Amino acid sequence: MTRLSFVSFMLSAGLATPLAAQQATDDIAPEADSSLSVFATVSEAAQAALAAKQAGTPTTAENWMVAAANPLAVEAGAAVLADGGTAADAMVAVQAVLGLVEPQSSGLGGGAFLVWYDATSGEVTTLDGRETAPLAVTPTLFQTDDGEPMQFWDAVVGGRSVGTPGTPMLMEEAHARWGRAEWGGLFTPAISLAEDGFTVSERLASSIADGAERLQTFSRTADYFFPGGEALQAGDTLVNADYANTLRLIAAHGSEAFYEGPIADDIVATVRTAAGNPGVLTATDLEIYEVIERDPVCVPYRTTEVCGMGPPSSGALTVGQILGMLDRYDLAALGPDNAESWRLIGDASRLAFADRGRYMADSDFVPMPTEGLTASAYLDTRAALLNGDAALTEVAPGAPEWDHAMLLADDISVELPSTSHISIVDQYGNALSMTTTIENGFGSRLMVRGFLLNNELTDFSFSTHSDGIPIANRIEPGKRPRSSMSPTIVLQDGEPSLVIGSPGGSRIIGYVAQAIVAHIDWGMDVQQAVAMQHLVNRFGTYDLEEGTDAASFEGALTALGFEVNVRSLNSGLHAIAIGETLTGGADPRREGIALGE
Ligand code: GLY
Repeated sequence: MTRLSFVSFMLSAGLATPLAAQQATDDIAPEADSSLSVFATVSEAAQAALAAKQAGTPTTAENWMVAAANPLAVEAGAAVLADGGTAADAMVAVQAVLGLVEPQSSGLGGGAFLVWYDATSGEVTTLDGRETAPLAVTPTLFQTDDGEPMQFWDAVVGGRSVGTPGTPMLMEEAHARWGRAEWGGLFTPAISLAEDGFTVSERLASSIADGAERLQTFSRTADYFFPGGEALQAGDTLVNADYANTLRLIAAHGSEAFYEGPIADDIVATVRTAAGNPGVLTATDLEIYEVIERDPVCVPYRTTEVCGMGPPSSGALTVGQILGMLDRYDLAALGPDNAESWRLIGDASRLAFADRGRYMADSDFVPMPTEGLTASAYLDTRAALLNGDAALTEVAPGAPEWDHAMLLADDISVELPSTSHISIVDQYGNALSMTTTIENGFGSRLMVRGFLLNNELTDFSFSTHSDGIPIANRIEPGKRPRSSMSPTIVLQDGEPSLVIGSPGGSRIIGYVAQAIVAHIDWGMDVQQAVAMQHLVNRFGTYDLEEGTDAASFEGALTALGFEVNVRSLNSGLHAIAIGETLTGGADPRREGIALGE
């Protein structure tokens, strides 16, 4: 983070006094705000939304709103919404642009989960556009010759990690169910930006610089991100004619143009011939891909119901378990400045992650106690474990009610932060929450026709068994890897009150749960809630966000018995609160905005 953007972040997070921030800003005033200059081409409304975020205030609107990780993508969605399009229409436009301007995080070569609130029916629907393991995978795909788990990076870079992408079909399915706008036109902003060129953002440039070595593994990817051998810099104009051509085909022929024909052929060939690390994807895997409607997972929290994506995502179940346990404690009375709040949140998270590691995976392939995990009586017993006054010394999976003998071993899998989140509310009252990914930053590093291919298969456990007992999230043909993505819609009296989600690997769960607590229990507006300093516990150390007041809890949490680690915590929360008006918040740690009218 540059010094100036750090100051902006501190201000927007309410973590620095204006005077201290002003003094720091004065030192480097001539550069002005670099994120504003990179986005100098965006509309005045988008610039105002950026400025609001940097001042720590939410965006407000009467009719519609869209929040996502890049102003160019948000503008594309806003134009659709202003023109009478639905949240599903706007999502297509946003995703198409994100795949161009934030290619490291999501795109056509990846997958996504979508939660939809339908204003007409009052129903919540969840769509699973997760990447899928090719039919030819074997249990040893991520193991060395002697049966040990591969080194993570040896697995990621190349064709081995590529699952059948789901995002193009998810875009089409959402549009077919809930769209009003003409499909092809939704790609126009992305096609124009790809052909005319867009300004490389600071975040994209720094991601390229940080990942330079792996990003140059394959020549097509290297040529795009390192034209003439030099890394792209913030402010450069980047043209992606291949991406424009790909989008034109999808705009004209729908997702079929992606799953069959020349694009599909190129994807398969690229995966199967990746030098040094080929994969097993075939044309059949692409032909048979399908988006799956799943039952939403909804868990009561205070006066609300928190709804999200069930298996193969662990998101809604784990967020739901954390909140379900915390629902038995008065966090509002304790407040955010009290270490006792963080003891409860930290250990509720550890207990939920213990269950996640044992039980959660693709329920089409392994039996899961999905209902038992969030049943009220079970959450009572898990919450009772938090009754003490120190960190738990033993954190083990529980025994939720289940019609199945427990035959599963604990999972070991690595999930590094990448991904992107889109929140949208349209003028008809529909709400959309979609978290979208190619897994690791720049995915498998393989590029085809202007987009990157995912490495989502590394979200599977590399080991299939532990001491002879099967691991739920082991790789199997046609299975979808367990995710942490937590696109969420909170309902109050059956109507949406908050649309939220984040990138961040398995920390997504903590980011989303904490922001919901901050908004509901601690009365923060959405901008404060997404900007708030992070304290995140998964199943090990208590991670405290460096450079913020979170680090001041180090002593207290250590004294309570937690192992504490101060580090960067790079969420990308985008949220819309729905009340008398719409209020939007965009995470100051990333480049996005919330924009509405
Ligand atoms: N690959 C990130 C996730 O699915 O959680």
